[in-house]
Amino acid sequence: MNRKIISVINQKGGVGKTTTVINLAAGLTMKGKKILVIDLDPQGNATTGLGLSNTTDSDQTIYNVLNGNKEISEVIQSTSFENLDLISSNVDLSGLEVETAGDSRRAFKLKDELVAILNNSGLSYDYIIIDCPPSLSLLTVMALVASDALVVPLQTEFFALEGLTQLIKTIERIKANLNPSLDIRGILLTMYDKRNKLSGEVEAEARNYFKDKVYTTAIPRNVRLSEAPSHGVPVLIYDSACPGSKAYFNFTEEFLNQDSPVESAA
Ligand SMILES: Nc1ncnc2c1ncn2[C@@H]1O[C@H](COP(=O)(O)OP(=O)(O)OP(=O)(O)O)[C@@H](O)[C@H]1O
Ligand SMILES: [Mg+2]
Repeated sequence: MNRKIISVINQKGGVGKTTTVINLAAGLTMKGKKILVIDLDPQGNATTGLGLSNTTDSDQTIYNVLNGNKEISEVIQSTSFENLDLISSNVDLSGLEVETAGDSRRAFKLKDELVAILNNSGLSYDYIIIDCPPSLSLLTVMALVASDALVVPLQTEFFALEGLTQLIKTIERIKANLNPSLDIRGILLTMYDKRNKLSGEVEAEARNYFKDKVYTTAIPRNVRLSEAPSHGVPVLIYDSACPGSKAYFNFTEEFLNQDSPVESAA
C-alpha cells in the first residue's frame, strides 16, 4: 500500500500545522528520507520557515501549477537542507478558488499533479508533506483528495476537540465521495503545557476518544519552536537540544514506525 502523500491538517488556525510540517520534514531527512514539502497555504509560512521567499515575484509556486500555468516539475525548489525540496506558496494562491470556479474537476487537480510526480522516476520522494491552510476551503479539499493519510495537530486547549468533530465530518464526506482510501494516520498533541491542568484534561479526553490514533509524543509549548521560523530553519537545526526538538524527533520516529512493517516486508 502506498502511504506517501501526507497532509498536515486542521481548519483551526495557529495549532502547529506549519511547525509540524517543517520539523517532521527535517526529522525525516535526518533519517535518510527524501522529502518534498508542498506549501498549500496562501500565508506561505512553510515557505519562509524553510528559508525561501513568499513574495509574489516568484512564479515557481503551487498556485501556478493549480491554475495550469506550469508543470509541477518546473516549480520544485531545493532548500538549503539536504534531501528537502519545496513547492512554495504566496498570497496569489488565495485567488485560486474564484479563478477556477468553472472547472468541475478542480478538486482533483492537485492529486493529478502529484500522481505525475510519483510516476516520474527521477523524483524519488519517500514522502510528500502538504501544509494546509486554516480553513475547509477548496485548497483543503484538494489536499484531502490528493492525500493517502492525514496528520492532525491538536492544540491542547479548550474547544480543541469541538473543532475536530467538524474536521472528521469533512474527512468522512471526502472518503465517501472522492477519496475512499483516505485515513487519519495520527493526531499530534501540540503546545502541551504540563503545568496547565487543561492540557492534561484535553490529552486524557483525546486519548480516551481516539485511542491509539493519538501519538504517544506530545509537543510541548517551547519558545525555541516559535523563534526558529524567523531564521528560516527547522528547530531541529536551530537548537537540536531544546525540548521542542526532542519532541519533534520522537514524533518523527513514531511516524516512521507506522510504516516499518511495510518496509521490513519489502
Ligand atoms: N509547541 C509550540 N510551542 C511554542 N510555540 C509554538 C509551538 N508550535 C507552534 N508555535 C508557534 O505558534 C504559532 C502558530 O504555529 P503554526 O504556524 O505552526 O500553526 P499553524 O496551525 O500552521 O497556523 P495557521 O493556521 O495560521 O497556518 C507560530 O508562531 C509558531 O511558531
Ligand atoms: Mg500554517
